[in-house]
Formats: sequence, structure tokens, C-alpha cells
Amino acid sequence: MKFVRFIMKNAALASVPKHIEHFSKFSPSPLSMKQFLDFGSINACEKTSFVFLRQELPVRLSNIMKEINLLPDRLLTTPSVQMVQSWYIQSLMEILDFLDKNPDDYKVLGEFVDALVTIRNRHNDVVPTMAQGIIEYKEAFAQDLVTNQNIQYFLDRFYLSRISIRMLINQHTLIFDGSANPVHPNTIGSIDPHCQVGDVVQDAFHSAKMLCDQYYLRSPDLILQEMRASNYISMVYVPSHLYHMLFELFKNAMRATIETHENSNNLPPIQVMVSLGGEDMSIKVSDKGGGVPFRRIENLFSYMYSTAPAPQIGEYTRPPLAGFGYGLPISRLYAKYFQGDLQLYSMEGHGTDAVIYLKALSTDSIERLPVYNTTALKNYKVSQEADDWCIPSKEPLDLRNYKVAK
Ligand SMILES: Nc1ncnc2c1ncn2[C@@H]1O[C@H](COP(=O)(O)OP(=O)(O)OP(=O)(O)O)[C@@H](O)[C@H]1O
Ligand SMILES: [Mg+2]
Repeated sequence: MKFVRFIMKNAALASVPKHIEHFSKFSPSPLSMKQFLDFGSINACEKTSFVFLRQELPVRLSNIMKEINLLPDRLLTTPSVQMVQSWYIQSLMEILDFLDKNPDDYKVLGEFVDALVTIRNRHNDVVPTMAQGIIEYKEAFAQDLVTNQNIQYFLDRFYLSRISIRMLINQHTLIFDGSANPVHPNTIGSIDPHCQVGDVVQDAFHSAKMLCDQYYLRSPDLILQEMRASNYISMVYVPSHLYHMLFELFKNAMRATIETHENSNNLPPIQVMVSLGGEDMSIKVSDKGGGVPFRRIENLFSYMYSTAPAPQIGEYTRPPLAGFGYGLPISRLYAKYFQGDLQLYSMEGHGTDAVIYLKALSTDSIERLPVYNTTALKNYKVSQEADDWCIPSKEPLDLRNYKVAK
């Protein structure tokens, strides 16, 4: 019996590349906020969602699995990356099991929800496991610029793909698990059609403040300003995504404020400005934490760079004030996921403004998804070329050696 199962498992595994090949030929279908809401409206149809997801999830998984295979061998073969890859393969196979099942059968729909929950749990630790792979790689091999750029390019796409896959899974499981959400009765899955931005700012600030008090025994205050003629600012958004970004920005702002004002009794407050325009909903988090040199700003979004010592994997579930150095890059992906962005403007010696840009209109909030194609492939094949800008010499020029040409 065991032997039969072993053969079957191997036979299934052997067909994996064929499935990945097939599904990666399709481009992922980005959903708009409106489509997400429609899937969860009163006449939401579980069958339609099921039929969509059993095709779309394999497409998104396969597109990104093609890119995993393009990673440098020395990274791809680390135990951590191998583990992540095996999770992707297993989840793909589990969804493909539903391709020939009957969408009119209630039992099948129930089994699909269970399968999605299992898959979501399996992938819970993808970020710290992948980060561990990067650490192993960094420790074992000298880094070169091109490989670093490739890894940065890959991880931005990989984590964005993961955010989108989890969004699809969350929407389906939250909407169709049969029970209304007792904590947030007005949300549609994880989307709040009337997300009060100020409330999320306050929540995220207080969580970061608690962590900061525990760690440093003190914390700066918050000054919140909302720019709009009347009432509070509300929008159609995923509060948990907004919370994630703000929590990360507050942790950074608090750490910088406290470390810069170590010897002072007064901590300058963190100021937040929320502004709603015709196109953008912007949130600015300003601190007086000493700032960052302009040259280093880009590094702060790099997965290969952090000033804090790397925590152990288990610690990630209890986030310390500074961890893998993934706070900023992952937050920027959450912003980009619905066509927004996150930027830092810093003045060294003074402080930093971090601005989250989101789309004010739900019609502009459409998923931003990576697609595997020849353009993507080209990005992995870039080789190190000579710089087309002069490299300034560190030696002073001895002008006496120069003769004027006639
Ligand atoms: N507001 C800020 N003021 C000064 N430096 C900052 C600020 N925000 C970020 N940084 C610098 O950028 C680095 C990267 O920030 P990021 O949030 O990505 O990672 P981290 O805070 O080191 O770890 P993690 O957020 O994963 O726990 C920080 O280590 C810090 O040196
Ligand atoms: Mg951080």
C-alpha cells in the first residue's frame, strides 16, 4: 500500500513541470476592488468564485514558480528555498485536484474551502523562510551587484505575487465559510468599503507604541491631522494591509526618534497627515529621528540590507522593533498591490517623512501583478557591464602631469 502511494506520489511529482509550463502560459487576471466586492455581494456565487480560483490560482502560482527556477543556483539550492519551492509544488497539485470536480456539488465546494485554508497555513512562514535562504546565501558567497539586483527584482515580484494569492484565498474563505464575520459585520471578506483611515492610523500607532514601551521603556506621542473639508477620511480598502504599512512605518519612526534623542527627556512626537484628493489618498508619517543620508535611501528597500541584527525564525511571529529589514520593502509592496506606492523623503540631521500613496477611487484600485514573459526573463539575464558614468578618483589629480594639446 505504502509502495503504491509512493509510486503515485512520484508520478504526480513528475507531471509538475508540465502543469507549470501549461499554466504559466496564461497571464494572471488582475481584479479590481469592484470585482472583489462583487464576488462578496449579496448575490455572491460560491460556484463562480470556485471556478475562477481553480484556474487563477494555478496561473499565479505557475507564473511565479517559473521565476523561482531562474534564481542563481547557489540560492535556489539552499534548504530554505528548496522548502519554499516544495510548498508551492504541493499547493499547486492540491488545487489541480479540483479541476475535474463538479462545481454544482456542495461537498466539492466545502472541500475547496478546506484545501485553501490548508494551503494558506502551509505558506504562513514563506517570508522568514525565504529570508533565511538569503541569509544563508549571503554568509556563504561573496555578493556581486548583478546577483543582488536579480534577487531584489525576484523578491519584489515573488512577495507581491504572494500578497495577491493570499488576498484571493482570504476573500474566498472569509466570504464562503458559512458564517458572517462577527467582529467586522460590514466588511466584505478582508475589504472594508468604508475603511476609516484615521482609525487604522490610531490602531497601528498604539500597537507600535506598546512594543516600543516594552523595549525602550518610553515612546513618542502621535499628532494626527486629517485634511478634508468635512468628516473623517474613508475609502474602500483592505484595513489589514493599511495597518501593516503604518505599523512598520511607526516602528521605524519610533526607533529612530528614541535612538536619536537618547539623552533627552523630551521625545518629539510623530506627526501623521492624512490627505484625500481627487486621485490620491496620501498618508505622511513624519519623525524627527535624525534622518538617513540620501545615498542610503534606496538601500533601505533592499532585501539584502538591514542595520538590525537578523532575528531567528521563531521570533518573526513576535515582531521586535527591527527584524529582517523587510519592513519597508514589504510595506511598499502592499502599497503597490493596489496601484499605490510608498516613498521616503529624509533630511539627514533632522528626520524622515514616509509617504504612503493609495488610489482614492476604488475604480483605480486594481491588482498589480507580475507576469512571467520574455521581458521578465531578460531581467534575470542581465550581466555586469561597465558603468556609463565616470568613477570619481579618490587620488588628487596632479595637474603638472597634464600638457595642453596643441
Ligand atoms: N524613519 C526612519 N528614520 C531613520 N532610519 C530609518 C527610518 N526608517 C527606516 N530606517 C532605516 O532603514 C532600515 C530599514 O528599515 P526596515 O523597516 O525595512 O527594516 P528594519 O526596521 O531594520 O527591520 P524590520 O522592519 O524588518 O523589523 C532600518 O534598519 C533603519 O536603519
Ligand atoms: Mg522596520
